[in-house]
Amino acid sequence: MLAQQVAPYVFELIAVDTSEKMIAVLENRHIPNVIAVQGDILATDHRCEVDLPSGFDLIYASSVCGFLPDYEGAVLALARLLRSGGRFIQWDWRASDGNDFGLSENRIRNALQTAKFGSIRVGQAFSIETDEQTLPVLIGTGIA
Ligand SMILES: C[S@@+](CC[C@H](N)C(=O)[O-])C[C@H]1O[C@@H](n2cnc3c(N)ncnc32)[C@H](O)[C@@H]1O
Repeated sequence: MLAQQVAPYVFELIAVDTSEKMIAVLENRHIPNVIAVQGDILATDHRCEVDLPSGFDLIYASSVCGFLPDYEGAVLALARLLRSGGRFIQWDWRASDGNDFGLSENRIRNALQTAKFGSIRVGQAFSIETDEQTLPVLIGTGIA
């Protein structure tokens, strides 16, 4: 679980997911500086069940953006929660003809540009091999 890997390197980590089960899995790890919040990152007020502060140093979205009904809107909303100089990072499956999920490099780059991120980088980071297919993973990042 990525939050568990990131937690030792940050003061506090707020993890948001709409899934009750996903939040329960994280809560059961009892990581002291992780606050698990069941909520929707597309919610316009971003308050969920706790007051999310604005001015985050880092917001990352791990295999979430490609499943959202309004990816571009989510990037705009998340960009507003970062402090100036804060970084946004997403990783997502690369869209392909055979799958009904995933994002393209162009779509990620356009969304990050529209949200006025600087130092934008988008590219394939690695791929995951299964018996049936190869799933390429794209990473997009920018600085607010
Ligand atoms: C492929 S899973 C990835 C889970 C986790 N982030 C990880 O990297 O292991 C996609 C997750 O996105 C969550 N999700 C989908 N739409 C969301 C939304 N609008 N707000 C917050 N989480 C959402 C789902 O509940 C699901 O847990």
